[in-house]
Amino acid sequence: MAKKNLRKGIFITFEGPEGSGKSTQSKLLYECLKKRAYTCIHTREPGGTEAGEHIRRILLHSDGIHISDLTELFLFEANRSQIVEEVIKPGLAGNKVVICDRFSDATVAYQGYGGQIPLEKIRLIDKAATKSLKPDLTILLDVDTATGLKRAKKKGADRMEAKTIAYHRRVRQGYLKLARKEPHRIKVIKVREHVKDTQKEVQRIVLNVISRYKRPR
Ligand code: TMP
Repeated sequence: MAKKNLRKGIFITFEGPEGSGKSTQSKLLYECLKKRAYTCIHTREPGGTEAGEHIRRILLHSDGIHISDLTELFLFEANRSQIVEEVIKPGLAGNKVVICDRFSDATVAYQGYGGQIPLEKIRLIDKAATKSLKPDLTILLDVDTATGLKRAKKKGADRMEAKTIAYHRRVRQGYLKLARKEPHRIKVIKVREHVKDTQKEVQRIVLNVISRYKRPR
């Protein structure tokens, strides 16, 4: 099948509280778009670059090491600065579909609403890290906090999952607040019982948006 060309790159992010299944959903979307002959990239935060994968280990798997709230914020933003330069911007410049598992909204929801760092401070640092790059579309997978955490912790809790349920409740409410503020960009999908039903809804929304980026034949 001939490659489908877009007029410009499109930046799609996946967000959601713990256990929302966003990694599964974003990978399924990536496979679906590849089958439809779109040129796409799938990446994730924290991680996504060689330096980023090191940062991810510090952030999620550094048992017994104290990391202050501000250090945590800077590490997420350092990771972002690297992935923007190394992966996202080049992908968009090549008119690709760039799918990223989490981005700036995660920092507002987790470190901002969850960790209660002032949102203005986060926005300032984030703007420097992203050079003001924003997603064109964000899929927010919403799941009840207790259900999601239970699902996420099945394989053992990482440093972020181990935070209190009150923290994770604030994260979820923070995400929903962001979605209310930017309804055109952030689309909320309630996680369904079956992965394929959630994916159907993801594809419906994404394919509709992508159709606006197609180059006329
Ligand atoms: P995940 O691979 O399950 O999404 O794990 C990433 C964890 O990092 C998750 O608990 C959310 C958290 N996180 C933040 O707290 N702030 C951020 O900016 C990002 C990107 C992730």
